[in-house]
Amino acid sequence: MPNTMRAVVFDRFGPPDVLRLEDVPVPVPGPGRVLVEVVATSLNLSDWECLVGSPLYAKELRIRSPRNRILGSDIAGRVVAVGRGVTQFVVGDEVYGDNLMLKGGFAEYTVADASMLAHKPAGLTFTQASALPQAGAIAVHGTEHVASGTRLLINGGGGGSGMFGIQLAKRAGAHVTAVDNAGKLDFMRSLGADAVIDYHVEDFTRTGPYDRVLDLVAKRSPLDYVRVLAPGGRYRAVGGSMRSLLGIVSVGTIAARLRGRRVGMLLVRTGPSRFVPLADRCVAGDIDIRIDRTYSLADTPEALARVGEGRALGKVVVEVGDQLS
Ligand SMILES: NC(=O)c1ccc[n+]([C@@H]2O[C@H](COP(=O)([O-])OP(=O)(O)OC[C@H]3O[C@@H](n4cnc5c(N)ncnc54)[C@H](OP(=O)(O)O)[C@@H]3O)[C@@H](O)[C@H]2O)c1
Repeated sequence: MPNTMRAVVFDRFGPPDVLRLEDVPVPVPGPGRVLVEVVATSLNLSDWECLVGSPLYAKELRIRSPRNRILGSDIAGRVVAVGRGVTQFVVGDEVYGDNLMLKGGFAEYTVADASMLAHKPAGLTFTQASALPQAGAIAVHGTEHVASGTRLLINGGGGGSGMFGIQLAKRAGAHVTAVDNAGKLDFMRSLGADAVIDYHVEDFTRTGPYDRVLDLVAKRSPLDYVRVLAPGGRYRAVGGSMRSLLGIVSVGTIAARLRGRRVGMLLVRTGPSRFVPLADRCVAGDIDIRIDRTYSLADTPEALARVGEGRALGKVVVEVGDQLS
């Protein structure tokens, strides 16, 4: 095991050019944690938000400098050392998971909480497995009450979580309307969306009504969301602007309740219990994993820009290792 490794680091919030490739010490796993040799790390909007420090929650209570110098949550790789008390993994195991609290996936090695990881199915490549944990958990949780005939709208449906969410809802028999920019409409149709809306052209809060709304990018007044719901309908925001999210948990909740609807945040329960059943469905061929593009570790800034600027059709993955089977 080397003492140092290559990692993409940053010391202040900003655009992708604040990132640089550096040699840093290989971390040591503490109790309950494992050291993973990273093979692939997929990108999520949360990586971009933590890079630029916006919305405010992405700053994780810091002002200028980030809490974690190395970003990258959704990892897949091999266990190379285990900390005290870890019983579920041994050296050599192939694993994947969402390391959102510790991050560190844009590096050759990273320490992860063992409870956040699962054994990688043989039927998925490392690249495919890395695409699942965070976006998959959001999609699974966000569509869990969707059933046959449910009229569901997914705002931001062309991103990573939307990619899985559209497919899960369609398999459950829902009628799915998906909203995103013009470049993603065909992509959302190809995933099964029944109707698509270009948010630059049409205001989805003037359409509907819908029984369920899953909002990955809440940016509007909470009263708009109440309006779009059918009686008994439920709106859940996963991410978005601070202003919108604060409005949703205050005014939105009360206004919706007065009108017999429900508006609130979806606090996603992450971890293997969410993404492992989804991975099984991907292995079985029931759900597709669409990989938009792969990048080398040195090209991580470019990969982040592709996600942050909304150009990705499916998941963007940084391939760190050279053994990708
Ligand atoms: N609540 C929780 O527990 C929890 C846990 C983990 C992550 N999150 C959050 O979940 C959110 C979604 O993640 P993700 O990885 O699925 O994001 P993503 O892959 O970037 O998908 C978001 C999509 O929304 C589109 N979009 C942007 N502005 C829009 C608008 N005004 N109207 C409609 N669509 C719009 C984006 O495309 P364009 O930009 O090109 O338009 C993109 O296709 C993030 O904010 C993340 O922080 C929440």
